[in-house]
Amino acid sequence: MCSSDLIGPEITAVARQLLDAVSLRHGFSLRYDEQPMGGAAIEATGEPLPQSTLEACRASDAVLLAAIGSPQYDSLPREQRPESGLLALRSGLGLFANLRPVKIIPALAAASTLKPEVIEGVDLLVVRELTGGVYFGTPKGRVEADGHVRAFNTMAYSDFEIDRIARVGFDLAQQRGGRLCSVDKANVLDVSQLWRDRVEAIAVDYPGVALSHMYVDNAAMQLVRAPRQFDVILTSNLFGDILSDEAAMLTGSIGMLPSASLGAEGPGLFEPIHGSAPDIAGQDLANPMAMVLSAAMLLRIGLKQEAAAADLEAAVERTLAGGFRTGDLMAEGCTQLGCRAMGDQLLAALEG
Ligand code: IPM
Ligand code: MG
Repeated sequence: MCSSDLIGPEITAVARQLLDAVSLRHGFSLRYDEQPMGGAAIEATGEPLPQSTLEACRASDAVLLAAIGSPQYDSLPREQRPESGLLALRSGLGLFANLRPVKIIPALAAASTLKPEVIEGVDLLVVRELTGGVYFGTPKGRVEADGHVRAFNTMAYSDFEIDRIARVGFDLAQQRGGRLCSVDKANVLDVSQLWRDRVEAIAVDYPGVALSHMYVDNAAMQLVRAPRQFDVILTSNLFGDILSDEAAMLTGSIGMLPSASLGAEGPGLFEPIHGSAPDIAGQDLANPMAMVLSAAMLLRIGLKQEAAAADLEAAVERTLAGGFRTGDLMAEGCTQLGCRAMGDQLLAALEG
């Protein structure tokens, strides 16, 4: 478990309270090792991912992380910022596969900015490549020449990086609705053409999965036009970052979306996809549900405690069905709660 920034501690406290209760109920116990990460680690040690944190994560069965980052660190050199710590953690644990499920909870159908008939029944999964692409490509940097400043990054993928994430996408499509849509920009980018070629090559091993390809600009449009057409969306690091925020809004709030980051071996990392929300931090206003749903993914995937995971998810659904909302989701006729009170309500729903 990593301590984190701004709303991080508030939503972590709720998740921990629920993890304690649900593990007790299901007859197993959890041992927490809380380590600093992001801004919290910068304050404690001067760097965003201390070696001791990385080692403690490696030694654990699963890692739960809340949000990191704060505007106060935006002027630090890039490698010292909280975000660089997160990238180093993902890369250091070899977490190349990021799963971001987007499922409409019936009680929230009216919370989306999109029409209920558009989002009704949406149940999709973004499979985002997480340790390659333009986030990690070299060369990168900033140079001055001929009186101008020029900055650059490299969007690069090797065949093996595409193959392994494609297999994750196909495997999951096989377990779900049997449809995989690979998103790229192959009409312009060489790196996307290789992506498409490799996905086609891997598809041969999955005759039961219906594969389609879509350019990322069209995918961004289709996600808000007709999101039900998607089952599994397979895409690269940057495109997945952008599309998953967009997909989150189908549910009405980015405060609802959990994620799991997995590698070939070792512990997975479970975190909400939202940020550290500087505007509401420290005011007991945050929505802890994405964090609680991330804890559910940790139980299911990381610790193989399916029944406990399902209990947490049911507690979230029951609480929403009971009309309880944090400010981000508040609607007429509902009861608005702060982060802590929402935690108590979730606990009551779990135990009720
Ligand atoms: C995410 C976040 C991160 C990313 C940031 C905080 C580095 O936006 O997990 O989607 O870009 O991957
Ligand atoms: Mg993001």
